[in-house]
Amino acid sequence: MTAEQRIIVIGCGYVGTVVAGSFARIDRHVVGVEVDGEKLARLRSGQAPFHEPQLDVLLRHGLARGMLEFTDSAATVVPSADVIFFCLASPDGGKGRADMSQIESAIDSIVPHLRRGQVVVTKSTLPLGANDWIQDHIAEQAGFAVPVVANPEFLREGSAVEDFLHPDRVVLGADDGRALDLVLRAYRPILDQTFERIVPLARGEQPRPELVVTSRRSAEVVKFAANSFLASRVSLINEISEICEAYGADIDVVAAAVGMDSRIGPHFLKAGLGWGGSCFDKDLAILARQARDAGVEPALVEAARRANRTHRRWVVDLIGDALGGLEGRTVAVLGLSFKPDTDDLRDSPAVELAERLMAAGAVVRAHDPAVAKVPELPGLEVVPDPVTAAVDADAIVLATDWREYSRIDFAAAAAVMRGRLAFDARNVWDRAAVEAAGLRYRGIGRADQTRLPRRADGESAVGG
Ligand code: UGA
Repeated sequence: MTAEQRIIVIGCGYVGTVVAGSFARIDRHVVGVEVDGEKLARLRSGQAPFHEPQLDVLLRHGLARGMLEFTDSAATVVPSADVIFFCLASPDGGKGRADMSQIESAIDSIVPHLRRGQVVVTKSTLPLGANDWIQDHIAEQAGFAVPVVANPEFLREGSAVEDFLHPDRVVLGADDGRALDLVLRAYRPILDQTFERIVPLARGEQPRPELVVTSRRSAEVVKFAANSFLASRVSLINEISEICEAYGADIDVVAAAVGMDSRIGPHFLKAGLGWGGSCFDKDLAILARQARDAGVEPALVEAARRANRTHRRWVVDLIGDALGGLEGRTVAVLGLSFKPDTDDLRDSPAVELAERLMAAGAVVRAHDPAVAKVPELPGLEVVPDPVTAAVDADAIVLATDWREYSRIDFAAAAAVMRGRLAFDARNVWDRAAVEAAGLRYRGIGRADQTRLPRRADGESAVGG
């Protein structure tokens, strides 16, 4: 046990709060630095400033044991740190450029308090080459070198604590042996899985994560490559769902069978309304931009983004077709966050869906278990339960696959609806349960709902 190792986490957003709470959980002494007064007050009271399963428990536990503290003053805590984690946002600065201003001002605020022997670890997704720039910039300002280790995060919102404490792999990009040792020491219980799980596994043993030690540049590319793969897989399966739709096949059967190929695997093959969130589109845009800057044509990365945008519009068109037009219709949208188990609305396909339905003349009423309003859509009424959303609706549309929507009371919804359409944009509803309530089921790329297309000459588009 190395309770004496002191870790500072600069920036307590989605990533930093998870990093701080999780390191405290494995007996590191952690101080989280957050300059936003409101967020800081919440953190100090043991509450994450956003919805993330298990995180509040970790925060309260860490605070109560004295392993975790929060402050707004980097100056007072940086001198005593061994390892300084940068967990600041690098939002889209437009045109595929990352906005590095938060990182730059954080560097400027810590530089006067740094001392030799410390190590800076970057967890934020930064443009390729940014870690070299940070290391050089610190050396220039401080007058001595502080090594930078690139340690990309692979945390999924909704399971971020689990992903941090029990990862598939830990990637460390470092060119300084001593710095690497310090970071390895911080991660040791995670690498060896020598602590008790918060939620015990139903079966089997917790596998030890892989450790990848590499150059900083390779670590940076790993992160962009991973997100590009994941986004591309979902774009591809969504495109195939459109083909299934056109030819009367069932995307869920197709995806399951494709995923049984051990070279492909079953994950990230769920067709639906398209991918979203703060990471995929931003990261792919940055990668494409940096590829182009280097003379590389990012054909697939850009196609994945384009296909996602097209697919989201295609779903709106399907709903419009199923309703015989959207003008004057009332639609209940279930789910607003970009995926379940988070209140994050950034680049949410569900929000875009609501916006497009409204723009086409529909009245939209929405529900989400974790979202009470959508600031960028002030005209959108958000109600406290799914059945209230369904009152007088021509259609209910499942837009985000929160688990509770799979158990929705279809009979209660049907009783208050004006129309009969239950549109399942995430393919999670049980068609029989929907139909038993007298509603008309419509999914994405699911069999038995379309006819084979015919060519312009009247021939079937299938065969010779
Ligand atoms: C993603 C990556 O999964 C993390 O590894 C990474 O650390 C993170 O981005 C990041 O760069 O910070 P996240 O954005 O939280 O995590 O969400 P995902 O679980 O990856 O889902 C992204 C989107 O794809 C969601 O809109 C989700 O609904 C959609 N999706 C995912 C599908 O439509 N189908 C699938 O099969 C899987």
